[in-house]
Amino acid sequence: DANKPIALVIFGVTGDLTRRKLIPALYQLCKDDQLPAPLHVIGFARRPWSDEKLREELTAGIMQFARTKPVNAQSVEELLKMATYIQSDFQEPEGYNRLLGYLEEKGYQKVIFYLATPPDAYVEIIQNLSVCQRYAEQKQWVRIVVEKPYGRDLETAQNLEDYLHQCFSEDQIYRIDHYLGKETVQNILVFRYANGIFEPLWNNHYIDHVQITVAETVGVGTRAGYFDKSGIIRDMFANHLLQLVTLTAMEAPYAFNESSVRDEKMKVLRSLRPMKGKEALINTVRGQYSAGEVNGKQIQAYLQEDRVAPDSITETYLAARLHIDNWRWAGVPFFIRSGKALPVRETEIAIQFKQVPLSLFNWKNMAGEAPNVLVLRLQPDEGINLSLGAKIPGPINEIAPVKMEFCYQDAFGSEPPEAYERLLLDCIQGDQTLFTRTDEVIEQWRFVTDILKAWEENPVKSLPQYLAGSWGPVQADKFIEEEHRRWRRPG
Ligand code: BG6
Repeated sequence: DANKPIALVIFGVTGDLTRRKLIPALYQLCKDDQLPAPLHVIGFARRPWSDEKLREELTAGIMQFARTKPVNAQSVEELLKMATYIQSDFQEPEGYNRLLGYLEEKGYQKVIFYLATPPDAYVEIIQNLSVCQRYAEQKQWVRIVVEKPYGRDLETAQNLEDYLHQCFSEDQIYRIDHYLGKETVQNILVFRYANGIFEPLWNNHYIDHVQITVAETVGVGTRAGYFDKSGIIRDMFANHLLQLVTLTAMEAPYAFNESSVRDEKMKVLRSLRPMKGKEALINTVRGQYSAGEVNGKQIQAYLQEDRVAPDSITETYLAARLHIDNWRWAGVPFFIRSGKALPVRETEIAIQFKQVPLSLFNWKNMAGEAPNVLVLRLQPDEGINLSLGAKIPGPINEIAPVKMEFCYQDAFGSEPPEAYERLLLDCIQGDQTLFTRTDEVIEQWRFVTDILKAWEENPVKSLPQYLAGSWGPVQADKFIEEEHRRWRRPG
């Protein structure tokens, strides 16, 4: 029975996510023999594709985006030989009846519905899926995977959650935040809780502040239509960045399992000091890129991008100062920033430890900064480093910063797998630890919606501009310098 095939129904199978991420990840799992049972892809979308065309397109996706190359033709064949396409509008009940008929005819006992469509189609798909849910009642299991963004604010997120819960129970719902699927993100907890030496320092007695950076070099390009309605706050901050905050700040779970880990993350979200009204305005800095050069490539100004309103005030850069009001973190600000068209692609969490109580030496090239920074480099060049002060050889007592380094590539000889490989496998195996729970989603939106409201109630005509290829608006530097701290310059 364990070998019975699993049906993976992908809504929006013709889109970018399927081609770039889902299918290459499934291919990798198939090739590495990690799938516990054969997996049959059932594509569901609007375009007039045939089964043959579906297989061709998915094969092309694998050829282009597979993590390990050369691509193994036999694994592609194995993964796609049963692939089927159902053409239908998402609001068309008849399409779902055909889907149901197909699932019944083949007698699938395990079914995953994957929403890889633009989010505005979610509600109609979920409503129509209630047909399939009845089918599910007699089967082994049925699960649904939902991609972010889950809603646009607290109210719409609540709405979506209500719809989901009308048709599915929480243990059937897998909300993807693909950052949680990244090896290095999971390693935050391993680093903290498999090693005894850091945790005693991981608090306001020893830590001055935390900086979390998710910098991207790309502009918004072809995604401008979506992005202009979202901005960094909805696209990155309400999910990926807040998840990184929770993993950095949470208490030790009692076990590495879905309820315990997510309970601890929830406590962090609840401890975030709300940013209402003026608090939101003084604790955030927004910016928008103007034309410039990133890595030798010219990027046009955000306001000139196709499908961006010429007077748009959507932020392509956001910096924020968060406070976590609990015993561990009281008085330790978390400085968070993310932006498009920045000079390097780099995601890192930097823990800045406090100064020694009394300085005995002359520091070279340190400008009075505290020397001990622990940096978790999440991507690229995955690893961890710790900066220390060391004596420069010679007769004078001069100190320079040096680094202790751990690099994934050197230690394990390979690059970490793609986030989607792990997440798809976990969903197939029924493990929700790395998926966002309903209460987390709601709490994230509660926090973010206060900020959105404050921005709305205090409208601006335009946002501070920053040159594409620079580190964001000058306002962001002032904002952290007011506190006698400085942004790191990763890369
Ligand atoms: C996505 C956002 O969730 O994450 C994108 O919608 C962003 O705007 C991407 O580029 C970043 O993901 P990664 O894995 O490249 O860091």
